[in-house]
Amino acid sequence: MTERNEWDRVGKVVYAESEEQSDKAYSKWAQDYDKDVKSLKFVANDSMVQHSFDLIKNDESSLMLDVAAGSGLTALAFRNAGYKGMCDAIEINAAMLEIAKQKGIYRNSICQAVTATEPLPVQQNSYDFAAISGAFLENHLPQGCVPHIVDALKIGGLMIFNSRNTDQNAKYQKVLWDILVSQVEQGRISLVRSVEAPYYNEQSRESGKPMTARYSVYKRMK
Ligand SMILES: C[S@@+](CC[C@H](N)C(=O)[O-])C[C@H]1O[C@@H](n2cnc3c(N)ncnc32)[C@H](O)[C@@H]1O
Repeated sequence: MTERNEWDRVGKVVYAESEEQSDKAYSKWAQDYDKDVKSLKFVANDSMVQHSFDLIKNDESSLMLDVAAGSGLTALAFRNAGYKGMCDAIEINAAMLEIAKQKGIYRNSICQAVTATEPLPVQQNSYDFAAISGAFLENHLPQGCVPHIVDALKIGGLMIFNSRNTDQNAKYQKVLWDILVSQVEQGRISLVRSVEAPYYNEQSRESGKPMTARYSVYKRMK
């Protein structure tokens, strides 16, 4: 198992005891985030692209919403794979979003929390797809934001996301799956794809093994 400072910095956001604590840790981490996750072989964005790129609308009129955009690595991964459309970002942490803006990939970047109670501060029914990577976990996105993300999509638009498969994330994931099932039962979304794929290719401290995540794609039906 690797004993490294990079895992300490990951741990500060993943095992934070509150949203405020996690947010403060991101503010401190922002400058080193890209370097750290590269060295830990954080492949979540590449895996996401690999398991969804054939499904997205890919022309100059396509519109992507990068939810919890962080330092911009999710939109960048789509761009590097040949995504031709426009990207908007929404992200709670100003320091992370500043790094994202420097990558020059976003049309609009909004520094605001995604919540379970309010619509996203973007045009509703307007996105061809939303990508959410590394943010469906405790003290990050509240699971109840799912219907609001769906509302921001066009009918037929895709919600593409990952959620890490760890013991620590199991309770959070259960609530997330329940909300998704309820949206499916209401006829709002339907499952297009669900696969388990690598998340960190470095051995994790929690299990001593490389970490995987569930990668899912849902389509907005109404
Ligand atoms: C692990 S980073 C992932 C960033 C990027 N998507 C990636 O894959 O590199 C998680 C991001 O979620 C953001 N975040 C957490 N809670 C949020 C919320 N309620 N609304 C918006 N962003 C949030 C954090 O500030 C952080 O930048």
